[in-house]
Amino acid sequence: MDEDWGRVDDHLARALLPADEVLEQVLAENRAAGLPPIDVSPLQGAFLTLLARITGARRVLEIGTLGGYSTIHLARGLAAGGRVVTCEFEPRHAEVARRNVERAGLAGVVDVRVGAALQTLPQLEQEGLGPFDLVFIDADKGGYPQYLEWALRLTRPGSVVVGDNVVRRGRVADPAVTDPAVTGVRTFLDAVGAHPRLRATALQTVGAKGWDGFAIAVVD
Ligand code: SAH
Ligand code: DHB
Ligand code: MG
Repeated sequence: MDEDWGRVDDHLARALLPADEVLEQVLAENRAAGLPPIDVSPLQGAFLTLLARITGARRVLEIGTLGGYSTIHLARGLAAGGRVVTCEFEPRHAEVARRNVERAGLAGVVDVRVGAALQTLPQLEQEGLGPFDLVFIDADKGGYPQYLEWALRLTRPGSVVVGDNVVRRGRVADPAVTDPAVTGVRTFLDAVGAHPRLRATALQTVGAKGWDGFAIAVVD
């Protein structure tokens, strides 16, 4: 089944996405640097670009940069004068991301913040960098509930919050799974659903990265 999903992803990507040497090189750099291959897929990246465009985002916050593959997609969807702030714990990942962002010609619009997001997010607030129009949560899954709280502090009515990896091959919906990476996402989903200021849905996805999904919420 996974093979079919990958084959169809390739087909869709070939049909819909322009050939893009920069993005291919970014993925090659990430693999050469030994980063884990957990970047969003090309089609998912294009979805992030579209979301930024659809929301008219000028201020985007990403939590979990890795090598900047998703960051570049978000930055490409920015409205004129827009910026992406992206938070990354691992200095090595951040360094690769900065190089990739530079290669993509986006160094002027992407701000990579190194450190545990729970340390850097309060700094963003203090610097008055919000409110963000779009927030993409994709760092350590155990931290998702707290990242949601920060997303709410740093957004405004109408902002959009997206969470990656909310399905994890069905493990999120399996109460027997008690891995904190899974329970973190489960708690996040419950908190999104229960929050009076959020309207949300989730979309299951299959493709090159297997079976997973995105949660998408708008702030009231
Ligand atoms: N958004 C990226 C993938 C992110 S992978 C893409 O699609 O291209 C998750 C990243 O979150 C990893 O680079 C990991 O180092 C980072 N991370 C883990 N814990 C973190 C924390 N506490 N704060 C910030 N980033 C963290
Ligand atoms: C995995 C995928 C992700 O998108 C992520 O953010 C973390 C881990 C994975 O497939 O393991
Ligand atoms: Mg992810």
